[in-house]
Amino acid sequence: MEIFPSKNERLNPFPFYTRMRRLNPIAFDDKNQIWGIFNYSYSKEILSNHKIFSSDIHKLLFLQNQVKKNTHEQINGDIKKNVANDTKNIRTSILTLDPPRHRQLRNVILSAFTPNRIYNLNPRIEEVSKKLLNNAIKKGEIDIIRDLAYPLPVTIIAELIGVPYKDHNLFKQWADRLLGANANTTNFLNRKLEQDFKIIQEEMDTYFNKIIQIREKEPKNDLISNLIGSTIDNNRLTTEEILSFCSLLLLAGHVTTVNLIGNTIRSLLENPLQLRKLKKNPNALIPSTIEESLRYRSPVQALFRFLLEDCDFNNYKMSRGQRIVIWLGSANHDEAIFKNPEEFDILRQPNEHIAFGYGIHFCIGSTLARLEGQSVLKQILEQLEDISFMDNYTEESLKPMHDVFLMGVSNLPIKFKERKK
Ligand code: HEM
Repeated sequence: MEIFPSKNERLNPFPFYTRMRRLNPIAFDDKNQIWGIFNYSYSKEILSNHKIFSSDIHKLLFLQNQVKKNTHEQINGDIKKNVANDTKNIRTSILTLDPPRHRQLRNVILSAFTPNRIYNLNPRIEEVSKKLLNNAIKKGEIDIIRDLAYPLPVTIIAELIGVPYKDHNLFKQWADRLLGANANTTNFLNRKLEQDFKIIQEEMDTYFNKIIQIREKEPKNDLISNLIGSTIDNNRLTTEEILSFCSLLLLAGHVTTVNLIGNTIRSLLENPLQLRKLKKNPNALIPSTIEESLRYRSPVQALFRFLLEDCDFNNYKMSRGQRIVIWLGSANHDEAIFKNPEEFDILRQPNEHIAFGYGIHFCIGSTLARLEGQSVLKQILEQLEDISFMDNYTEESLKPMHDVFLMGVSNLPIKFKERKK
């Protein structure tokens, strides 16, 4: 059974999800040998159980190799011993690790990402969004993605990590190539993909290695210096771990937020009644508008896990080594949890979406992403009036960004009038 929306459904996979939730909330795709999970409660159940549903890509590759070699008798303990040999070329990040190492590394990064530190960034976020919007207004045309959604998060994350903004084209290129590499395939972990990732990884490593060397001699008040100075059980992080943090943050820190900002404006323009409500009471409603956007068009549509052991999951027999796609985008439209889920409703209460994941891998950057989304929206409402799609707009004129696992558009030109001051 097909568990991926088709290419034509990328901008609107929701009817497909609805069908799946109704008929096959747990489905197995024979062709790709992968499970798909479509409803809210099963998604949360899987994301809360890392002992069975692992994120550790090394263990997956090891298990796959074992299957190829027909030696099924390995058990979890042996996996740990042997993964290092089978997968030494694959880069690890906290996203692709299980406890205990995941917890240790996550604590290190959390100590650098304290809520205070993030809230202290707010004036800078506001300053950058204001400047970006002013520049676009001066040019007389605004593409939400090009002029706001892309440059804001990349500027902030670059400053936070401690890399110069002037290199942002390089970051964009890496992100586009990494995401482009799997844009048209559901066959992950194939050789070609592995090679593409490796080349990009090497380029990023060379770049970050230079910065690490500089910061080792001269620490600054940035994340790279923080990571260099951090220890776990009196041991410093390995260079490999620092490198992988940097590339993860650079990518996770901007690609997803670009989509949040683009999706929010797209959804408001499609729903003029909601936009009017928001304009009447912006201060009170900006945060709930961002939450509804996260639910309605979740920037990350799907997460991966795989099974460390055979299990009977709600009467479905799942086997060790099998992969699972958890469709957050569908879980966040589950009618069992959200009333009228296909409506974009900025007053929705409660709104317990799982757009930032759930369980031990819950997004570290959620506060930052929310602040950035809220700040752009505030600037747009303060400085522009009569915003709408361009006259020649059709849904088909939008190009989907990246692949089926992320939701966003790569262009969003708008019509506007500057608000009289
Ligand atoms: C709207 C924007 C964002 C969305 C929708 C989003 C979504 C997610 C999701 C769904 C996960 C869980 C992954 C899993 O369970 O496998 C995650 C993890 C993560 N996110 Fe975000 N994210 C966003 C922004 C950010 C930002 C701005 C940063 C960094 C500055 C960031 C850094 C991370 C990191 C480091 C993890 C891994 C946490 C772990 O494995 O313990 N994210 N994110």
